Amino acid sequence: MLNANCKRLPCKGENAACLQGSLDTPGYDGNRVLAAIAALGRARAACACSNLAPIRLFIDTGSVAEVEEIASWGILSGATTNPSLLAKEDGDPGEIVQRICELVRGPVSAEVVSQDVESMVNEGRALRELHQHVTVKVPFNKEGLAATKALIDDGIPVNMTLVFSPNQALLAAASGATYVSCFMGRLDDISIDSAVVLEEIADTLRAGGMTSEIIAASIRHPEHVVTAARLGCEIATAPAKVLEQMLNHPLTEAGAEKFRADWESRPEFGEWLRGLTEKRLAATGS
Ligand code: E4P
Repeated sequence: MLNANCKRLPCKGENAACLQGSLDTPGYDGNRVLAAIAALGRARAACACSNLAPIRLFIDTGSVAEVEEIASWGILSGATTNPSLLAKEDGDPGEIVQRICELVRGPVSAEVVSQDVESMVNEGRALRELHQHVTVKVPFNKEGLAATKALIDDGIPVNMTLVFSPNQALLAAASGATYVSCFMGRLDDISIDSAVVLEEIADTLRAGGMTSEIIAASIRHPEHVVTAARLGCEIATAPAKVLEQMLNHPLTEAGAEKFRADWESRPEFGEWLRGLTEKRLAATGS
């Protein structure tokens, strides 16, 4: 069974067909899938979906305290900063970026601010020297494209930011950008449906065989993250507030409360679990 909904980067065309159990989902429309495959020219890039990498979550912030909190949950794969986010913080921006790198132990985007290619490249090289996890963030424009090419040629990973259309995404990917940051919230702010644009970008890059990873950015609410995951974006970078919102569901809280109350109605069961835990701790020391 072919699956046109598969837009993940690991789909590099190694397999002739894309196998996915989730196609059994009620409401699955096979005709739509096949039509989409034809439209996207995806058949040659079809993949074994069982091997798909899960979406990675980054935090979008300049706040070390926020990174400390969210990193403690164990769900972060990286972080993105930008000049506006860092400008809100006290302290040395280089130290902030280095601390975030240590905390997330994954790619951390730090952005250049110069306007000409040479200065962008020089800033990018200097930012990269802050920490091995630094990814240089470069704004989208023709100077940014040239700077991206030069930094990539130096072996420096680049996150091309402020991408709002499939054409811009194509150019960013053509420059060799490691990541292409597609902004959702700022599109919605001007009444352009970010989900539609993000899907067009994903389709365009994948059908064109581009290997840049798509970062869904400018995320304003949890539904943006879900949309990014559904569309096969490799990464969603979300503010701490949105990541916190993703935790919550009233049924989870009510369910946990009920489990606790039921367990406490049997004090001897509580004793038993404490004993079991202590016995194990005494035997293993950890
Ligand atoms: C992306 O990396 C940017 O830092 C960020 O997502 C911008 O989001 P905003 O539109 O909420 O400022």
